[in-house]
Amino acid sequence: MIGDNPFTEAFFQDPYPVYRQMRDQESPYWLETPHDAKSGGCWMFTRYDEVKDLLRKAHDAPQDIKRLIPESQRTAFHYMLLYSDPPDHTRLRSLISTPFSRAGVNRLDAMITRQVDQLLDVIQEHDEVDFIAAFAEPLPVNVISELLGTPIEDATLLRDWTVTLGRGFDSTINDPVASQRGVEALQEMTRYFTELMARPNQPPGTIIESLKNDSAAQKCSPQEAMAQCMLLLLAGHETTLSLLGNAMYCLLTNPGELAKLRQQPELLDSMINEVLRFEAPFQRAVFRVAAEPITCRGHQIQVGERISPVVSAANRDPAQFAEPDRFDIERKPNRHLAFGLGIHRCLGEKLARSEARIAIGRLLQRFPHLQAVESKPRWKARSLFRTLQSLPVKPG
Ligand code: HEM
Repeated sequence: MIGDNPFTEAFFQDPYPVYRQMRDQESPYWLETPHDAKSGGCWMFTRYDEVKDLLRKAHDAPQDIKRLIPESQRTAFHYMLLYSDPPDHTRLRSLISTPFSRAGVNRLDAMITRQVDQLLDVIQEHDEVDFIAAFAEPLPVNVISELLGTPIEDATLLRDWTVTLGRGFDSTINDPVASQRGVEALQEMTRYFTELMARPNQPPGTIIESLKNDSAAQKCSPQEAMAQCMLLLLAGHETTLSLLGNAMYCLLTNPGELAKLRQQPELLDSMINEVLRFEAPFQRAVFRVAAEPITCRGHQIQVGERISPVVSAANRDPAQFAEPDRFDIERKPNRHLAFGLGIHRCLGEKLARSEARIAIGRLLQRFPHLQAVESKPRWKARSLFRTLQSLPVKPG
């Protein structure tokens, strides 16, 4: 039986037994969040088919929470495309799509390779190193900073804000100090981007420059321009960090699969896809609010109730994946939901896959004797992101 609070330390170290129980229940699991007075809780959807249906339902289960909140109380979150419905969503997504297209991402390969090689040079100098701190943390934020056009010397500040926000706004964690820090980080980040965008000259060819021009041409408001910059940083940093760390973790704890990949490097993309399924970096997509009654396992979800699509639980559903708890780099088909579905499907998917392909490919080439130091590294106490606290390795 799942208790009132399934989010214990044991859950953070291994959430999949709890998700199995949630999938097996007769009705969807109602998560009480008494500390979140606005909602009181949410329905957790955990089976593959129900998560897939929900993600596709932009109409029955929209995300635009602005409508529920007076203008004076809105924050940057309320202007992000992830929390918008069409037509605002369509307009905002079109403004920032080009750098994330196939052609746009291919243009970044040289820059990503340069960043990866610089970090690998540092790793090579050590007998033992924490892969998360030395590699997985700096790479995504450095790449997004270049794309956005934020000064590189601010990368650590931006990284710290995203981590504080990720914990502060994780509604399954009842920690008032973390929530307060999350609110402060949101305010500081909003001030930072407002001031940055007010500067007369922006680095040419960057997303900040492009959004500033869009706002001058009234394609979006200044608030919307600033909020999309924040979204790209928040959506792209910890998710990609987790993918890199989780890929290394899955390979080091499955030496047979690592050996296979070394013999058949053409399996690299398929390996990355399996990491996304097996240890989904973004464990739960954002809340949906029922606009129409929605039936799930015979239970009716009422209008206005919140629903959490748990993609990590769907990715381990035996009704969809044979032997779902086995890490298999040759798994086919592998239609996991790690990047979501429907109109909100991840905009940065190609970028994240490309970063992982370049990073893991070059790392394995350069360090043929790479080894884990601990057999059971610890995971952070989070339910939103699946991120390791540290991953000590010997480059060899
Ligand atoms: C492994 C890395 C990543 C994973 C697992 C991931 C996962 C996701 C998921 C599940 C969603 C849908 C959320 C929902 O429907 O509630 C999403 C949306 C989004 N992601 Fe990613 N993401 C990753 C990397 C990135 C990167 C690198 C960027 C950009 C720098 C990015 C930008 C976005 C944006 C802008 C959205 C909102 C799209 C919309 O609402 O139309 N993501 N991501």
